[in-house]
Amino acid sequence: MSDTFYTTTAIDYTNGKPHIGHAYEKVLADVITRYKKLSGNKTYFLTGVDQHGQKVQQTAEKEGVHPATYVRKTTKNFTNAWKSLELEFDGWAETMDDNHKACVADILQKLYDEGQIYKKQYKGFYSIKQEQFLTDKERDEEGNFGPEWGIVEERDEENYYFKLSDHVEWLRTFVEKSEDFIIPSFRKADVVNAIERAEDTDLCISRPKERLRWGIELPFDSEFVTFVWFDALINYISFAGYNKPEGSDLPGFDKLWPANLHIIGKDILIPSHSIYWPCMLHAIGFSDEQMPSLLVHGFWNINSGKVSKSEMTPEQAAMLDPVNLVEKFGADCVRYYLVRDIHTGKDSNFDPERLVMLFNTELANNLGNLCNRGLSMTKRFLNGAKAESDYDDELSQDLRAQSITTIATYQEAMERYAVSEALEAVIKYITLCNQYTDKQAPWSLAKDETKMAELTTVLGHLTEVVAIVSVLLKPVIPAACERIQKQLKADFLAGINIDDLKWGLIPVGHEVAKPKPVFPRISLEEE
Ligand code: MSP
Repeated sequence: MSDTFYTTTAIDYTNGKPHIGHAYEKVLADVITRYKKLSGNKTYFLTGVDQHGQKVQQTAEKEGVHPATYVRKTTKNFTNAWKSLELEFDGWAETMDDNHKACVADILQKLYDEGQIYKKQYKGFYSIKQEQFLTDKERDEEGNFGPEWGIVEERDEENYYFKLSDHVEWLRTFVEKSEDFIIPSFRKADVVNAIERAEDTDLCISRPKERLRWGIELPFDSEFVTFVWFDALINYISFAGYNKPEGSDLPGFDKLWPANLHIIGKDILIPSHSIYWPCMLHAIGFSDEQMPSLLVHGFWNINSGKVSKSEMTPEQAAMLDPVNLVEKFGADCVRYYLVRDIHTGKDSNFDPERLVMLFNTELANNLGNLCNRGLSMTKRFLNGAKAESDYDDELSQDLRAQSITTIATYQEAMERYAVSEALEAVIKYITLCNQYTDKQAPWSLAKDETKMAELTTVLGHLTEVVAIVSVLLKPVIPAACERIQKQLKADFLAGINIDDLKWGLIPVGHEVAKPKPVFPRISLEEE
């Protein structure tokens, strides 16, 4: 097993443009990847766009363009948004890519040759919205298919089926014994129930071309294309270099798997990621140790309901557009809010007023004040240099002790992907540092020549805490922390490992720069 930590996110549906829900998932993945790097892990962050399927074909038809043209245009909206949010991904998965298509075709052929895929006639009800056949298990108490399935049509057609049922017994045992297949674990019970329901059902993996042309052709029957989920799920391995052609610049598969985390929303846990995907991997020949972990996040809702563009005013829709938000408030502010005001795994309500309030109170006031006061007084009273002092007192001891507790709490929370808890610990520490400053009142100490040792200790402590928090917050607000580290003239902090984050980072004699405000206050009103 390699030491590569591989995080990958569900690829976005090409619904035109990403909204803050999609942006949250990518920011979460980016924050986790940056934290893992800070902890000394090698990482590989893959994201991309899921480009095939009926919905894409239908939208392209409505716009009167070829699906490939439509997809190229919409893909740009995603790459632009991810750039503006300063995401640092290593791999970009577009399912129209030839290597991916070849990988899907190879897998289909192998499963077909082994008898794991077969053809049969099936008459049943089909949900266009969910792009799947429905069974009686999907009917509600009145015997109807609920609104979540959209328009349901009766269809009678021949298709190819993957013998999912051959792997269900294995899946049940695997899910029950595995401790980290599904994170957080409270979602496991739903998966176990869904496995019971999947027991004797096979998965329809083809669509006849007369109905859907926009997909990967089956290698053993050119009259059919591949079911979009079967194609999309394979991105996790195809873009990680599985069965890559000679000379390809895709990554080395053995280096990336199995240390692998798929970051997905709760809506795509069942059945695609927790049933189809592990069964597909098992059928291909992956062992239990090679199964990925699924980090299942919750939803950002609007007015406590689903994000739905059709029910919104243009102002509300603009408020949910990540590019607009970044233009208005900056990438750090949007990144901060998206991981600060939600507990990973749970839902939250998107509220622009809270976005502004959290940025202003926690970053502009609390952190901004700490950086500004610490560095400007060091500049003014100590000529900008950290100096030696043998003065110590209880408040300073407590500040040092709390730094150790804060780093430990932060690490423990980040290891559980509980980003908001990690941030809370850092913010609490910053508050304590500001209280320390108020109590020590270095501005008064500076007026009394006999208090030079006290002043030196207090300002040395402030420089030190600014350095520590700039490292801890960097995975979430990288640009702001880089600016802080520049003002500290401490570029070496950029490459630090969290295990080396101890008191005494800034050496005696080190000179800091003149501080400039790092966080301008923001407001909802147009200037
Ligand atoms: N294309 C599929 C994924 C294929 S994975 C092999 C898909 N796309 S999606 O655009 O509908 O959703 C992309 C991701 O965004 C999913 O993980 C989904 O859960 C997540 N979210 C969509 N709306 C969201 C919110 N309102 N809040 C948080 N995440 C949301 O599913």
